[in-house]
Amino acid sequence: MTLIKGAVPYGEGDPVDILVEDGQISDIGNLKSDDQDVIDARGLIALPGFVDLHTHLREPGREDTETIETGSAAAALGGYTAVFAMANTDPIADNPVVVEHVWRRGREVALVDVHPIGAVTVGLKGERLAELGAMARSNANVRIFSDDGMCVADPLIMRRALEYSRGLDVLIAQHAEEPRLTVGAQAHEGETAARLGLAGWPAAAEESIVARDCLLAGHVGARLHVCHVSTAGTADVLRWAKARGTQVSAEVTPHHLLLDDDRLNTYDPVNKVNPPLRAISDTKSLREALAEGVIDCVATDHAPHAPQDKDCEWSAARPGMLGLQTALSVVIQTMVQGGLLDWRGVARVMSERPAEIAGLPDHGRPIAVGEPANLVLVDPKATWTVNGAELASLASNTPYEGMELPGVIKATLLRGKVTARDGKAAR
Ligand code: DOR
Ligand code: ZN
Repeated sequence: MTLIKGAVPYGEGDPVDILVEDGQISDIGNLKSDDQDVIDARGLIALPGFVDLHTHLREPGREDTETIETGSAAAALGGYTAVFAMANTDPIADNPVVVEHVWRRGREVALVDVHPIGAVTVGLKGERLAELGAMARSNANVRIFSDDGMCVADPLIMRRALEYSRGLDVLIAQHAEEPRLTVGAQAHEGETAARLGLAGWPAAAEESIVARDCLLAGHVGARLHVCHVSTAGTADVLRWAKARGTQVSAEVTPHHLLLDDDRLNTYDPVNKVNPPLRAISDTKSLREALAEGVIDCVATDHAPHAPQDKDCEWSAARPGMLGLQTALSVVIQTMVQGGLLDWRGVARVMSERPAEIAGLPDHGRPIAVGEPANLVLVDPKATWTVNGAELASLASNTPYEGMELPGVIKATLLRGKVTARDGKAAR
């Protein structure tokens, strides 16, 4: 039993005490503490535990950069109670053996619910569909499929994938990047890239695939999820598709909400990411689209990389940045402090919508008696300074190094078990 004393659910109204018993919220009110474990939550906001639809845990294959254990610790410290692990591991998660390994290891570590994402195509090659049904029926119970890192570029393969996904009641998540338009691309196609002499990644490479996939999803009556939306134009396409009834959902990363291609002037590859940091006008449009609900949720695209893959010249560096432990703070800075979202809105974009999109019945639930005790306690007034070396990830490629960010996570509970408290994961 754990008693959370004096937290304010959703940042609304008076503080309450929340009693957690047998993995559930068993009482809410003004409660007496007996001999339970008490969490002093005065001044803290209680939110439903966060759900990340897009995490790279790197196991199997690159355990030098992250493991399911270290990534789960980073997730718990970031307030997450469920994460979806991308399929671009080595070997690739395109079969039941690999997805079951990830699922089983996640259960052993038990800091966060780890749901493996299966590959859409064999080897992420975009040529032949992977065995979606076998992965969906495996013990891992795969609900989301994605070739993330690569785009399912062939429209016929994408159409088939959407058709199968409808039959299996699973979700295809697309990394939208028309590969013919991004050959050799190193940075957002715009003034900064031109000045720095970096080959451009045009917005149209993303927008054209999103438009195509919305049409395909509408045509076959399937659901579609768009990974890491990065341009104002993609938000416009989504607005149009949703207005005409397409079943499409979309995520934006914290880094695309906060950072723009102005960061590239230092040539520091910590800022290299795919899709690339865009123009400041895109950043602004993405924030508005998230507030409006055109973009449904925030997903981290947490992408750990080894020093030798980041501390090198720009063109040789791998794309990607850490995100799990900084996501909430970046959302507070860009959306809450910017007046675009209140704490209810934070719960919606970090927990409720992603849980709905993934079909997780036990996450993103209301903070109410009888509900699963998947909770995060946030100090909204405190700030912290990011130090990559201190993050729980094995890698330290954070673009926020040295930045003072708002919002400190004081505790995370997964089915009533404290998985992180005062900056320490329960390992
Ligand atoms: O920046 C990225 N990193 N984008 C992706 O699509 C893949 C990811 C990775 O795996 O490192
Ligand atoms: Zn991607």
